[in-house]
Amino acid sequence: MGRAFVYVILGGGVAAGYAALEFTKKGVSPGELCIISEETVPPYERPALSKGYLLPEAPARLPSFHTCVGANEERLTPKWYKEHGIELILGTRVKSVDVRRKTLLTAVGETISYKILIIATGARALKLEEFGVSGSDAENVCYLRDLADANRVVDVMQSCASGNAVVIGGGYIGMECAASLVTNRINVTMVFPEVHCMARLFTPKIASYYEGYYNSKGVRFVKGTVLSSFEIDPIGKVTAVNLRDGSQLPADMVVVGIGIRPNTSLFEGQLTLEKGGIKVNGRMQTSNTSVYAVGDVAAFPVKLFGETRRLEHVDSARKTAKHAVAAIMEPEKTDEFDYLPFFYSRFFTFSWQFYGDNAGEVVHFGDYSGNTIGAYWISKGHLVGSFLEGGTKEEYEALAKTTRLKPAIDDITELERQGLGFAVTV
Ligand code: FDA
Ligand code: NAD
Repeated sequence: MGRAFVYVILGGGVAAGYAALEFTKKGVSPGELCIISEETVPPYERPALSKGYLLPEAPARLPSFHTCVGANEERLTPKWYKEHGIELILGTRVKSVDVRRKTLLTAVGETISYKILIIATGARALKLEEFGVSGSDAENVCYLRDLADANRVVDVMQSCASGNAVVIGGGYIGMECAASLVTNRINVTMVFPEVHCMARLFTPKIASYYEGYYNSKGVRFVKGTVLSSFEIDPIGKVTAVNLRDGSQLPADMVVVGIGIRPNTSLFEGQLTLEKGGIKVNGRMQTSNTSVYAVGDVAAFPVKLFGETRRLEHVDSARKTAKHAVAAIMEPEKTDEFDYLPFFYSRFFTFSWQFYGDNAGEVVHFGDYSGNTIGAYWISKGHLVGSFLEGGTKEEYEALAKTTRLKPAIDDITELERQGLGFAVTV
């Protein structure tokens, strides 16, 4: 039993949706392309799961956030794929791939062959067990990576109205979920090992700005420690979280966001790996010329910084996908990928954007007791990164443009004095 396609996209997440859209723009013929995904629904905008999906009133539900919202395109519903002759093989896990023979084997035993493969397998959430703590399967312990996880968060949240949630991890999932829990009137304590939230990106000053607001909403931060075990009652529910510092936190629910691992296992020993992902060139092509990789799983050259990076953000998933398809369909017209890293988040009424690299010395600007705060990162005499909370569309565009130019900075005090004005006038 088997089917053959010219193009196969393995994985049905954000990158898969944007790749499919680009294929149709470049003129793929009906029957040539398929998407194979373990998920049971077509690609959707994963960021909605920690934001609109968790709202107590009028929450976002499919089909409203299928891709490609970020390209301001129509939502790609099952009907759209059908109309474009793109085969969706959903609810199907690929269990092995042979890149030499150009075949994939699904968990139900079907062999699918391809001429060109795009790997868009994304990442999986790290489990507490990987840090030596058991209890992830308790019914009120939640992770958040896919729709099934998000439904579980909603159910558990509804079953513990006005109760206590412990959020493990101070990264993106932790911050966005804590805000959503508070909006649902649940008391939140966040636990993480670092000295402040969002340690991968925020400076202490930026973190303290947001932490102050979270505190004012009743969120408690327990920093510099990790959980050591759960108290679990006879029906399998966590009732409390024990921390390594010896303290105990009562819990009606737990949300865990302790990072991810890219889904590379199908390709170990077959493709070159780097930075925990699959190494690609500026055309998103792996060490096998018939195989491309995009999104969270791809480690690609970031020209601007002369380095290979693996990014875990939606903008890079969208753009690497688009670029790979352009390189496949119009090789002679497609240059090397030239990407400016872009991250954003939204929680409560906050909304921030970051461009570039958070390396080197930091200059803060704006009003840290008001609504607009920002920062620049200066490395080797050049501005390499920028952050802004509460900006306008024009201000964010100016920030992106300036960061891409990597202007030389001779006088840091002057940059600090000009603040946002520097980016707007460059
Ligand atoms: P993605 O994870 O989207 O998709 C991977 C797909 O591959 C899934 O469908 C999976 O089932 C499938 N798959 C994997 N292995 C398979 C196999 N063996 N067989 C079949 N299918 C397989 N970023 C940002 O910039 N701003 C934001 O606000 C947010 N918010 C956000 C919220 C939440 C809750 C999450 C989990 C993540 C974000 N992100 C984000 C990150 C962003 O969503 C992420 O970078 C992209 O989804 C990555 O897209 P990919 O397509 O690479 O992977
Ligand atoms: P993350 O890497 O942002 O944060 C992981 C956090 O885990 C760290 O900040 C740390 O506080 C914590 N941690 C690590 N080890 C721990 C331990 N033993 N005990 C307790 N805490 C520990 O990862 P995440 O928040 O889990 O997010 C998952 C993925 O989803 C990431 O790829 C992220 O980029 C993506 N995401 C992005 C956004 C966004 O861009 N706005 C939003 C949500 C999710």
